[in-house]
Amino acid sequence: MSKQLYFLFVHPDRRRSHTNRTIFEHVRTLENVTAVDLYESYPGFHIDVALEQRRLREHDVVMIQHPIYWYSMPPLLKLWMDEVLELGFAYGPGGTALAGKALQLSVTTGGGPEAYTAEGMHAHPLETFLLPWAQTAQLCKMSWLPPLVLHSARRASELEVQAHAEHVRAHAVSLINPAFVREGT
Ligand SMILES: Cc1cc2nc3c(=O)[nH]c(=O)nc-3n(C[C@H](O)[C@H](O)[C@H](O)COP(=O)(O)O)c2cc1C
Repeated sequence: MSKQLYFLFVHPDRRRSHTNRTIFEHVRTLENVTAVDLYESYPGFHIDVALEQRRLREHDVVMIQHPIYWYSMPPLLKLWMDEVLELGFAYGPGGTALAGKALQLSVTTGGGPEAYTAEGMHAHPLETFLLPWAQTAQLCKMSWLPPLVLHSARRASELEVQAHAEHVRAHAVSLINPAFVREGT
């Protein structure tokens, strides 16, 4: 049976986004996907917590698409985490709403792979900067899937961006219907 995937696209300026927006456009039309543009939904930063929690309850996989900003995430996504993943819902006593679901991050970076090395400009592997996400998944008893990454996003050619968007789309399909993909390979 197909799984339901909640796809959150998070970019502060959709018109200026090239890579993240292209990925969003590729994934949003899939069946069994609820695709939401977080900044479009909440331009005033007033998040509908009850709606977001209901969506999380109704989906098996949560996929979050965002550019890396200052080794972290855009501010509305942080607010979404603060307000939606609350005590008693996502963690703590009675907080089991997310248990057993999967968390798939899909991010883009300005820096190339070489920048995320001990000798590189950012001095640490990208995974180090994603540790708060990984531990959030752990706390909420979600499975943390290896993140999808497009490095050097600003320098990527149109062809590379399209190819990566196809890759993310295919990965989303495999998360929605793992049995189908296994049989088909
Ligand atoms: C405010 C801001 C902070 C950024 N911080 C980082 C960073 O810490 N590391 C990095 O590799 N790229 C950083 N970048 C580059 C973005 O990650 C890159 O422009 C984005 O992934 C491109 O995606 P888009 O075409 O959808 O905008 C930053 C960009 C902005 C605007």
